[in-house]
Amino acid sequence: MTQSANRNRVLSGMQPTNTLHLGNYLGALKNWVRMQDAMECLYCVVDMHAITQDVGYAHAESLTAATRGVTAAYIAAGIDPKKSPIFNQSQVPEHAELAWIFNCVARVGWLDRMTQFKEKSGKHKERASVGLYTYPVLMAADILVYKATHVPVGEDQKQHLELARDIAQKFNNDFSVPDFFPLPEPVITGPATRVMSLRDGTKKMSKSDESDFSRINLTDDADTIAQKIRKARTDPAPLPTSKKEMEGRPEAENLINIFAGLSGHSIEQVMADYGGQSFSAFKNALSELAVATLSPLAAEMRRLTGDPAEIDNILRAGAEKARAIAGPIVAEVKRNVGFVA
Ligand code: TYM
Repeated sequence: MTQSANRNRVLSGMQPTNTLHLGNYLGALKNWVRMQDAMECLYCVVDMHAITQDVGYAHAESLTAATRGVTAAYIAAGIDPKKSPIFNQSQVPEHAELAWIFNCVARVGWLDRMTQFKEKSGKHKERASVGLYTYPVLMAADILVYKATHVPVGEDQKQHLELARDIAQKFNNDFSVPDFFPLPEPVITGPATRVMSLRDGTKKMSKSDESDFSRINLTDDADTIAQKIRKARTDPAPLPTSKKEMEGRPEAENLINIFAGLSGHSIEQVMADYGGQSFSAFKNALSELAVATLSPLAAEMRRLTGDPAEIDNILRAGAEKARAIAGPIVAEVKRNVGFVA
């Protein structure tokens, strides 16, 4: 057996595009913090993915700031960089090296099925960057360059994870190395694996939504959070008391899921506490909870981003630890492929 098959390792990442929002926090980051105690974890800021849509000098400065901002969010949320290396993808060149080899393993037909590319490229597919098309291949490399076995993500990344498993499997078959890469498992847990827009309960909360009222940013101040929750779309009926009553009420479901995600209570518990009440009473309670959770996080992020040199040191140190794991794995991959070293 190779080292891959008998050891658990966690890898996950976020794109430094704009600031993170409540969906990123509840769908992923909160679980990352929890997993640190159970397994070896590495957390990446995927800056190379962040240039698949916007690239150029006008974007460069905001990319640098967003990379530091996302790093600060990881730490403020409770990731301990001494325990779990935090690094930006571009400082670990093995990601790109493995991605190239995976580009030659993955099939065009597989990528053609990726729904995120269809969504992000919109009507003008031919004008999208090639990088946006092969985005999920780089993501597979991010994971497998560490032979990671567990990948905590929100529900929207499920298809990408399936692709990573297909690539791992095909590599193992093509090179006759049955256990070389593990088949990484998505870890999609908690009551808020898909946080929806506050303006439209059928749309995912997203960094790219043009309405800032659709999302709660991790950098929002208390008044802004309260205002966004107050204005969140709801329906005229009181809060549902059961899952059955929740059906067809996406906005009610979303706010309940968010409450459960923030409080650590189950969805059933939240419905037992607030079911039958008016939305205005519930929104007050949700506002208080969101402010109590997110305000200290925002304050800590502000403190950390005030010292960019310290953040850069953390990223460099994390990259060094990450390279120590990725280097030997990529060397072995190259031997399998037949590259002369
Ligand atoms: P990104 O940057 O879009 O999102 C980061 C994480 O947040 C989760 N997420 C959500 N969860 C619940 N509700 C939402 N509305 C919501 N929006 C985002 C995402 O599922 C994700 O876990 N492709 C990835 C980044 C990536 C990656 C990787 C992840 C690159 N390489 C390797 C894991 C492993 C992405 O764009 O995430």
